[in-house]
Amino acid sequence: MNQPAAIVTQQLTKSYGPVRALKGVDLEVRRGEIMGFLGPNGAGKTTTIRCLLDLIRPDGGTVRVLGLDPQAQPEAVRACCGYLPGELHLEAGLTVESALRYLGRLRGGVEWPHVLQLAKRLDLDLKPQIKNLSKGNKQKVGVVQALMHRPELLLLDEPTSGLDPLMRREVLRLIGEARDDGATVFFSSHVMSEVQEIAERVAIIRAGTVVEVAATTDLAGRTLRRVAIRFREAVDASALGRVAGVTLLSSPVGAALQLQIEGEMDELIKAIAAFPVRDLEVERPSLEDAFVAYYGARESEGG
Ligand SMILES: Nc1ncnc2c1ncn2[C@@H]1O[C@H](COP(=O)(O)OP(=O)(O)O)[C@@H](O)[C@H]1O
Ligand SMILES: [Mg+2]
Repeated sequence: MNQPAAIVTQQLTKSYGPVRALKGVDLEVRRGEIMGFLGPNGAGKTTTIRCLLDLIRPDGGTVRVLGLDPQAQPEAVRACCGYLPGELHLEAGLTVESALRYLGRLRGGVEWPHVLQLAKRLDLDLKPQIKNLSKGNKQKVGVVQALMHRPELLLLDEPTSGLDPLMRREVLRLIGEARDDGATVFFSSHVMSEVQEIAERVAIIRAGTVVEVAATTDLAGRTLRRVAIRFREAVDASALGRVAGVTLLSSPVGAALQLQIEGEMDELIKAIAAFPVRDLEVERPSLEDAFVAYYGARESEGG
């Protein structure tokens, strides 16, 4: 028998007063995959995720989550899902432990040793009160409560936000393990690199519309990087401008050069090796810059 997809939305629309947050979002997330939901701030990621759990009502379109209509059966949908909201609201006076025990009781079926293990993996102290937690520690509580009941579907709104690089990595690892245990994961991010790291596929949303759905391996070939090179002396590096994928951003003659490269670095690195290099810096452009590069500047003006 064919199982329904984990998530299907068709022509989802939602406005907040005059702000058209979703302009017809079409999504399909397959069972058992990790799908990244990538887009700059304000693109509509949080709004979409909240519609999946019937935490807000879309103005139009249809939603199916694990084959269910969340508007008709919100409790059934929420029972199958682990949800990390963008902002988690918890009783300020509770300790981390009492908050997690409370959420576990609400959920039912939570094994406390599993909660302890998640907390340990994230280096989360159970004793402090919620009101005394840093943003990062609050985020960890959110991650633990989303995973604690081993849900069939994880809906994670920017799961790594506010975390330091080590903890970011651990959260990505936990997401990968949940998938390995059979869960489906849909997680939003505005960081291209982390989506590329763990998601099989990515849906890219921009200004309320899904502009692309792709395998992350296909996106990797399009990774855009800025390269700044300082040479030991003035050189004529025009040859670098002829490398596939390279656009020169400064004059090729001189002691410093800036360029942009799309795709693999191999040919460029070998070409750079012909010059006396003092320093080399490679940076990924912001997601916003990448969007402009891929989808054109005009659309990015919003509206
Ligand atoms: N409660 C709200 N009231 C008014 N506008 C909102 C509200 N929530 C979101 N928006 C607007 O809707 C758009 C999409 O927001 P959101 O879904 O939060 O995007 P993302 O999560 O991708 O950053 C943005 O323009 C945002 O300003
Ligand atoms: Mg958001």
